[in-house]
Amino acid sequence: MDWLKRKVALEALNWIEDGMTVGLGSGSTAELFLHNLKDKNIQGVASSKKTEKLARSLGIPLVETGKIDVTVDGTDVVDNSLTLIKGGGGSLVREKLVAYHADIYIVIGTKEKWKKTLHDETVPVEVLPFLHEGTKELLLSAGSYCSLRLDTNGYPFISDNGNFIYDCTNVKEVRAFHEKAVRLPGVVNTGVFLNLADVVLIGEDTGVRTERRNKL
Ligand code: 5RP
Repeated sequence: MDWLKRKVALEALNWIEDGMTVGLGSGSTAELFLHNLKDKNIQGVASSKKTEKLARSLGIPLVETGKIDVTVDGTDVVDNSLTLIKGGGGSLVREKLVAYHADIYIVIGTKEKWKKTLHDETVPVEVLPFLHEGTKELLLSAGSYCSLRLDTNGYPFISDNGNFIYDCTNVKEVRAFHEKAVRLPGVVNTGVFLNLADVVLIGEDTGVRTERRNKL
């Protein structure tokens, strides 16, 4: 699938012009896009510490601003209403910020990320460590059993914001779960990205398919 990732990452370059401020996503597909940017005269806003490190190593100047021309990021899942589920890499909160503050938000992914509808999904949720077990109970009453994400050493995974991630499984009504979860004390945000994606580029064997929200 790597060649498909490369293909969508290259296609996204068509949206980038010199002088732009570009939101830089996280994950393997977004990283391929970053490599393509190294010869462009742009400045970036990194959505994770890992992306920040890669951008610096590629010589991409970084800024922290909410005025972003275009953000390009990967996704774990996208459906035909262009709702995304993200956070497989644990960067969902900063990714949501660079998505939200961009004039144009472009999502890149390979064909297996595309689903007609979202059903029985796993939704990552970023949670404050303080009283997190209580937050887990609240998430259960919001509709899903959630388990604390662990790192490779068996310790709680810590996000770039110093928080925990709960992976909430078998979520039937993704949008309703998100709406309930974001209102809970202790929840920072969820990996459900509603009404944010403007363009989704899907890498397929025959080429790159473009799905757009009405706006563009
Ligand atoms: C990280 C993310 C990533 O964008 C998502 O996991 C996709 O990653 P990849 O391109 O490696 O499949 O949401 O929090």
